[in-house]
Amino acid sequence: MAEKETSKRGTWGSKVAFILAAAGSAIGLGSLWRFPIMVGRLGGAVYVFAYILAVFFIGFTEMLAELAIGRRTQKNPVGAFEAIRPHSGWKYLGYAGVITTMAILSYYAVVAGWAFGYLYKTIFGLFRNITWESSAAIFERFVANPWESLFCFFMVMAITTYIISRGIQSGIERFAKILMPLLFILMIFLAVRALTLPGASRGIAFYLKPDLSQIDVKVLFFAIGQAFYSLSLGMGIMITYGSYISRRENLVSSAGWVCFSTTLVAFLAGIIIYPTLFTTPGLSPEKFEPSLGLMFQTIPLVIDKLPGGFLFGLLFFILLQVAALTSTISLLEVPVAFFIDEHKWTRPKAAIFLGSLCFLLGIPSALSVGASATLTRFGFFNKMDLLFGNILLAIGGLGVLIFLVYFWGLKPALEEIRTGCPRFRLEKLWVFNVRFLAPLAILILLVFIKTITQ
Ligand code: PHE
Repeated sequence: MAEKETSKRGTWGSKVAFILAAAGSAIGLGSLWRFPIMVGRLGGAVYVFAYILAVFFIGFTEMLAELAIGRRTQKNPVGAFEAIRPHSGWKYLGYAGVITTMAILSYYAVVAGWAFGYLYKTIFGLFRNITWESSAAIFERFVANPWESLFCFFMVMAITTYIISRGIQSGIERFAKILMPLLFILMIFLAVRALTLPGASRGIAFYLKPDLSQIDVKVLFFAIGQAFYSLSLGMGIMITYGSYISRRENLVSSAGWVCFSTTLVAFLAGIIIYPTLFTTPGLSPEKFEPSLGLMFQTIPLVIDKLPGGFLFGLLFFILLQVAALTSTISLLEVPVAFFIDEHKWTRPKAAIFLGSLCFLLGIPSALSVGASATLTRFGFFNKMDLLFGNILLAIGGLGVLIFLVYFWGLKPALEEIRTGCPRFRLEKLWVFNVRFLAPLAILILLVFIKTITQ
């Protein structure tokens, strides 16, 4: 039976195609937009290092766990838990993942909408000779305008729904293959420009010279949350993606490459943003609490300082849009795969229904960054991000680890991982992390959640 179902599923064209598509899911606004905000809010370099450690010890562990579960079962998260442990209640963890992806997509696509807006604003030449004040004003005016931000949000959801409705091979792969490497090259270019701005060293010090007095549980908790967020973990995305990987491929090196490239992009985003901020007249970033618009307000400043800035700006916002879309696509793919597999819906029907639902769910987030005073005061957007983007990802991730160790078993999991990976050099470390380090770290931080979120 499994055979029959498997043969109907698409598989990735090659290992590189999988890595690029998974990196496409991972690399996105989480690295480019959210990471630099977290750095600014949580004490600079200390947070940067906590994030890198969290990716290495916890993110990589979790990613390998999810890919193994996905490839073994060849199913969406709900079906995967059910296949390994039938009638056990574990499938509810899969349901939680489906709901979390939809909730995250609802506000994530709002930010992807901002990227869409910045694309046409760049074309209209709005960012020429920009200053920090005018840049901040452009962002604030944009997000406070309900019609414009809803229009952009709608466009992103419509494009995402369209691509998803056409299926995985033709949709995701084609996009990711060409454009992700291009984004990377452009970011290196912008990073070099930012690093050579006069006075950049203060920004670099903030970003890379840890002030150890800043370490606390809050930093650790949000570092793990960000690792999960930026790597698309804790909600079944990598289980779903893993279900499309062939048994010939090496899961370990694939997971390693995805973690490495995502971290590098996040790191570069900070390298572009902080030196630029610290060299901007009229700003004292030490006392600066970054707003949700940090990236959107800062990038035009560095682009404006490049010869041929208009073209670079255009290219950056096109690639940002693509990076955001490959992530929105992966977020929508989870509930869509679930409805196709478990409820036998057709792909277009599932895509249109769920895409519309996420749009409706996201309207309050879109309006809570200035357009509606009540929602803004309530902090709807930030509350969604805290609840779904941090807490539920951590709980989902913890659930996957417990499931793997105690309900699936390390032995079959390792067998799956070794298939296609003749020598798993980090095996001992992974086993230690998956059994002890990662679950305990998440558990302890969840216990502290009340103090963390105050
Ligand atoms: N990881 C992607 C990003 O950082 C998208 C994503 C966000 C996926 C949150 C899951 C959860 O842009």
